[in-house]
Amino acid sequence: MSLLAVAVGGRGVVDPTEPVLRADDEALLRGRAAFETVRVYGGEGFRLSEHLARLGQSAERIGLPTVNALAFEELAAQAIEAAGVPDAVLRLYWTPTPLALALVSALPDHHDELRERGQRLISLRGVRADAPWLLPGVKSTSYAVNMAAEAEARRRGADDAVFVDSQDVVLEGPTTNIWWRRGRTLLTPSLELGILAGVTRAAVIELAQVLEYEVVEGTFALAELAAAEEAFTSSSVREVMPVVELDEAPLGRGPAADELQAALRRAAIVPA
Ligand SMILES: Cc1ncc(COP(=O)(O)O)c(C=O)c1O
Repeated sequence: MSLLAVAVGGRGVVDPTEPVLRADDEALLRGRAAFETVRVYGGEGFRLSEHLARLGQSAERIGLPTVNALAFEELAAQAIEAAGVPDAVLRLYWTPTPLALALVSALPDHHDELRERGQRLISLRGVRADAPWLLPGVKSTSYAVNMAAEAEARRRGADDAVFVDSQDVVLEGPTTNIWWRRGRTLLTPSLELGILAGVTRAAVIELAQVLEYEVVEGTFALAELAAAEEAFTSSSVREVMPVVELDEAPLGRGPAADELQAALRRAAIVPA
């Protein structure tokens, strides 16, 4: 992560190399903190209020103090301004101390290339969060498993992973939601499976309807994804990213991923 700016609750903008966490913060000791990753377009966080609402819900579920959305908005604006670039990645953290952090980093430079080529995915067994203590839909900093899955995918020569449960039900990627197309129908796993309610996923549902695709959310076997006419992932940073291979078998390319990516950019980029 190439860090451009950091703002700390109660302090404002600080030097990005300055230490900001207390040694007894459980964000560090237990991975117990809530976070959000937001795409910044033209100096504005895309759907920031939805991200802040999710941050508030994650905080509540892991027993953190209530999130002050307004204070986070101000902190985010300070960090974005200090970063001085229009397009970037904004990360917001809320820890048990409590401590509010806004980090702005440069966009990864390989995503447009990856979108051209398409991603290779491998399926990996994940945890289906079907009990409250497995924190369904919570975006907490306990992401070591997600990062290990990404690393395993890369070790096997793929770009990313898609988690399935013990019955091969498709869940989500380590940092993405997954989609595929059959005719004019877009399919994506249901939020009832304990996956993260992606902000981009919600945007794609809206945009798909405008583009006259039907969206079906449900419980689907991996074989259905493997038999898709095309597939793609959605996430704040990678946006809509086509999938061209699943478990070393080719997947077709189709129009939906490109149409949705274009529609997402149109929705995100506010004319000056
Ligand atoms: C597990 C998981 N699923 C899905 C997503 C996509 O969510 P969003 O579209 O809000 O970025 C993320 C984002 O990081 C994630 O961590």
